Formats: sequence, C-alpha cells, structure tokens
Amino acid sequence: MRSLRLQSLTGPDIAQALDALADVRIAVFRDWPYLYEGTRDYETKYLDVYLRSPRSLAVLVWDGADCVGATTTLPLADAGAEAQAPFLAAGHALDEIDYFGESVLLPPYRGRGLGVKFFEQREAHARANGLRVCAFCSVVRPEQHPAKPADYVPNDAFWTHRGYRPAPELVTQFAWPDIGETQSTDKPMHFWLKRL
Ligand SMILES: CC(C)(COP(=O)(O)OP(=O)(O)OC[C@H]1O[C@@H](n2cnc3c(N)ncnc32)[C@H](O)[C@@H]1OP(=O)(O)O)[C@@H](O)C(=O)NCCC(=O)NCCS
Repeated sequence: MRSLRLQSLTGPDIAQALDALADVRIAVFRDWPYLYEGTRDYETKYLDVYLRSPRSLAVLVWDGADCVGATTTLPLADAGAEAQAPFLAAGHALDEIDYFGESVLLPPYRGRGLGVKFFEQREAHARANGLRVCAFCSVVRPEQHPAKPADYVPNDAFWTHRGYRPAPELVTQFAWPDIGETQSTDKPMHFWLKRL
C-alpha cells in the first residue's frame, strides 16, 4: 500500500473536499448498522454545519488521489438541532461540549491505527477550542434485525478503550433513508461522552 496522506481542513475550507467526504461516508455507512442509502444531496445538507462553523475540523485520509477515510468534529453549539436537543433537554450548557461527527475508513485501511489517530486529533482540536467534553452518538438497531451480520463486532470496546462511556440519558433521533428506500426515517442515536 502506498503511504497515506492526512489532510486537515477547517470551516469553509472543508468545501474543497466535500465530495470526497460525502463519497467515503456514503460507502462506509451502507454497511450495518447504518444501512444508509446515501446521496450527495443528503450529504450536502448534512455537512453544511461543518462548512458554516469556523471551529469545525475534517481530517481526510488520502491514498494517492483516493479519499479512503475521514473524520469530523465541531463545537456542539455549532452542530445541528438533532445533536443539541438531548443536551438542552438534560440541562447541559452546550458551550463546553465538542461533538464528533463520524469516523469512517474503507475496510482495507482499518486496523492500522488511523481510528485512534482520529480520536487524538479531534480531542486535540476540542482542547484548542477550549472545550472540556467530547461527545458522539451511535445508532442503535434492534438486536434481531435481519440485516445484522452474524460476525458483526460493535465498536463499543474500541470507544471504551478511548475513554468514552455511554450516557443513557442522552438519546436523539437522526433521519436518513435506509438501503433501498427514498424517504428518511428516524433512527435512535445514543450518546457517548468523555471529559478531557
Ligand atoms: C471505527 C473505525 C474508524 C476504527 O478505525 P481503525 O483504524 O480500524 O482502528 P485502529 O486501527 O486505530 O484500532 C485501534 C485499536 O482498536 C481496536 N479496534 C478497532 N476497531 C474495533 C472494534 N470495532 N471493536 C473493538 N476493537 C476495535 C483495534 O484492534 C486496535 O486495538 P489495539 O489498540 O489493541 O491494537 C473503523 O473500524 C471504521 O471505519 N469502521 C466503520 C465505520 C464506523 O463504525 N465508524 C464509527 C462510527 S461513526
């Protein structure tokens, strides 16, 4: 494998890599448990908050001209209403919390330390923004869902090793079209937190 290049972009500069970011998200999130029938149109709307926030970060992984992975973050105060809602309902101040969007790597690029690096870089970015808590949410699908692969290993151990813990009181809904569908449907998203 050729050497990989990491590119960090912030705020409006993320626009220059928007299609690459969208395409790698669509490719990875087709799989369980996301089952996302992604479109560039949905991605443009979803990613808009990152372009608008001067304190956002996107890290893209390039193998030559191919984007093979990415991660994003922004202050929760700049994130979408779905991400903010459970924190507001629970009485948390938004202004000390950093929100992690996603970590995605195409399968051949997993298991070589990039996922850990994504967490380190986002936590460093949160600290640089003066934020004290990092938060992300994860989709919860029914245990008996027919599309669940028999050999699926959840990310829980990976996240726990990074110091994150589930916050069962913080649950929201994100809407996207499942594979084969054209209409978005709500999915329960459960938050995990870490105090820096
Ligand atoms: C989650 C993901 C980004 C992790 O990236 P990665 O580069 O494979 O992870 P790393 O190589 O940095 O893994 C570091 C450690 O965690 C372990 N690990 C990686 N994924 C794991 C998982 N799902 N469950 C348990 N441990 C895991 C590795 O074995 C490794 O262990 P070690 O420190 O003992 O060597 C990647 O697997 C991925 O893109 N998955 C699909 C998308 C996804 O689920 N994203 C998360 C939600 S947005």
